[in-house]
Parts: sequence; C-alpha cells; structure tokens
Amino acid sequence: YRNLRVALLGGGTVGANVVDLLLTHGEELANRAGAGLELVGVAVRDIDAERTPAIPKHLLTTDAEALIVNADIVVELMGGLEPARTYVLQAINSGADVITANKALLATHGPELFEAAEQVGAQLYYEAAVGGAIPIIRPLRESLAGDRVTRILGIVNGTTNYILDAMDATGDTFENALAEATRLGYAEADPTADVGGYDAAQKAAILASLAFHTTVPLDAVYREGITEITDSQVKAARKAGYVIKILAICERIEIDGTGEYGVSARVHPALIPLAHPLAAVHGANNAVFIEAEAAGSLMFYGAGAGGPETASAVLGDLVSAARRHVIGGPGVAESTHANLPILPMASVLTRY
Ligand code: NDP
Ligand code: HSE
Repeated sequence: YRNLRVALLGGGTVGANVVDLLLTHGEELANRAGAGLELVGVAVRDIDAERTPAIPKHLLTTDAEALIVNADIVVELMGGLEPARTYVLQAINSGADVITANKALLATHGPELFEAAEQVGAQLYYEAAVGGAIPIIRPLRESLAGDRVTRILGIVNGTTNYILDAMDATGDTFENALAEATRLGYAEADPTADVGGYDAAQKAAILASLAFHTTVPLDAVYREGITEITDSQVKAARKAGYVIKILAICERIEIDGTGEYGVSARVHPALIPLAHPLAAVHGANNAVFIEAEAAGSLMFYGAGAGGPETASAVLGDLVSAARRHVIGGPGVAESTHANLPILPMASVLTRY
C-alpha cells in the first residue's frame, strides 16, 4: 500500500506520546488505515529540550513550514492561537488533512478553519480537543446527527477537577494541587486557561456548536473559574453533602413562551450532591452527559487530560484521516445550518 506523509507540529506532552505510539505501533496502524503512516518530522521550538517519551533526534526540526509543504496529514499539537492558526491554514491550503487537539484555536477561529477546509475539500479532525481520551466529538458529529440534542452537562477540564478533588479528598492546597496537575501534564502551557475556566469555555463552545448545529462564539459562553474557591468552602460543601465541581452546561431552550428555541452555554462552579454520578468523577477524569430527544440520556466518561490518553484520540483521528485518503470522498461536512439565536445569559440564569 501507499505511504502517507505525516507532519507533527509540537513534541510536548501530547506530541511526544503521539510519536511514541506511532513508532511503536506503526505497522498495526498501517494495517488498520490501509496506508503506511510515515512520520516525516516533528516541529518544536527547542531541538535540545528533554522529552518524555524521547523523540528520535533526526525527526526534530524548528522549520514547521518545510514540514507542512510536503505532508498529506498535518497534526497540530503546539497549542495557542498563533502560529498554530497560520500553520493549520497553510496545511489546509496545501491540500493536507489536519488533526488538532487545540480547543483554543477551534473555539476562536473554528469557522474560518472549517470554511477553508471545505473550500479545498480537506478535512479537520479534533477528537482530542474535548475530553482528552473520551470519544465525544464523533458521537455528537456523527452518531447523534439524526437526533435532537437538548442538553450537555459535564466536567470537561481535567486540571480543575484534579485540583478540586485533591482539595476535597486529601485537604491539599489549591497551589500544591495545581503544581501536581502541571507536573502530570494535565494543565495548559498557561494554567490560567484551566483555573480561570477559559479552557472549559472553549470546550463548551465546541460542544454546543456541534450539538445544536450552529456557531456558538467563545464570547457568548458565560465563564467563571475556580480561583475564588477556598479550602473552607470545599470543606463546608462536603459537610452539607456536596462536592464542588466546575461544570460546562449547554442547552437548547425555549425562548419564554414564544415556541422558538435558542442556545446557551455556560461554565461555572456548582454544588453537586454526593450521590450524583458527577460527584464520583475523580482526578483528571472528565464526564459528559448528553440528553437527546430520542436517545434519552447518554454518559461519556474517562481520562480528560494526559499525554498518552490524549495521544490515543489523536491516533484515532490519524487512522480516520488515512482511511479517507485511501478511500477518497468528501468526508464529513461541518453542519452549522441551524442558526439558532444565542440567548442572553441574564435570561438563562434567572431560570435556575
Ligand atoms: P506542550 O506545551 O507540552 O507542547 C507544545 C509543543 O509545541 C512543544 O513541543 C513546543 O516546543 C511546541 N511549540 C510550541 N510553539 C511552537 C512554535 N511556535 N513552533 C514550533 N513548535 C512549537 O503542550 P501539550 O502537548 O500539553 O498540548 C498540545 C495541545 O494539545 C494544546 O492545544 C493543548 O490544549 C491540547 N491538549 C492537551 C492535553 C493535555 O493533557 N496536555 C489534553 C487535550 C488537549 P518545545 O517542546 O521545543 O517547547
Ligand atoms: N488542560 C486541559 C485539561 C487538557 O486539564 O482538561 C485537556 O484538554
């Protein structure tokens, strides 16, 4: 079979694990994909930095653009908005399919990137952008495309769940728990994105856009982080029979008495009764509940962050992208036809 040239942008927590899995299981993945997956290089900032797992030196380069030009599939695992956006557009315009785990990029520039991909018949895959290892993008984009989703409720940030869980279970301090989440590779390069609720808001925008077939801009997502949560609040919550979790809530709701519907998305800490399944989501795990009219309630649970865990989702996308190259065809089109209005948050919060 033919060889597909894969360029990797980023060799950090997730990227190094993608390289490791790709080099270790290359033959098995090639059999599944029906094409060889040749890793042509890994773009990084510092070629001499220590990496875990180690990346063979000959694959490392600081010249991302040279890698993109000759690739069939580009995997963006650098994070941040620029130069990630520019590189992804370059990859799309050079005819490559793109895989990314970058929720900040998708929540901010998604429409521009999806439109660029549609224009040239390229495909953008992003299973790893929400929920780490948990398959959540494909179920929403494909499996539930025939249903009407009414609500998504979940824990979508591993770092903040790790911190709140450590404060609750072991009495750890916020600062220690954040340092540990960073050491374990869960936190963003700037952990303000996690503790400020920005990362969860980006994920809420992505989930709500997919679930409600519309474009939910990031600035329409109401956001509160966990920086104001204190040890004594965590203790008092437990004493009263609750745990504090930061939730993402996306809803399709009727606009008061009109028979018309709109969507809302919000992220904030909430008191969860100890008997509720979300109270049992520990460490950096995530859990997402989806309510759909015909399907009823669905629950997705698993590792929401971490190098190998997230690499698993990236490699799933890589096999899908390779299959598309082998089989051909347009792939799955983005669907944002619904144009539902985004509801003003004040009108949403007064309902609860
Ligand atoms: P890291 O910060 O660990 O790695 C980023 C990598 O990108 C590094 O190898 C860095 O190079 C490289 N890089 C950054 N900027 C540039 C640039 N301008 N040119 C070339 N290389 C660059 O991030 P993660 O691996 O943790 O995350 C990657 C992406 O995956 C992010 O979008 C993140 O949000 C997302 N994600 C992360 C998860 C996790 O658990 N960590 C889970 C799900 C998604 P160098 O090493 O030389 O500094
Ligand atoms: N920093 C993110 C988190 C990584 O903690 O959930 C996974 O998206």
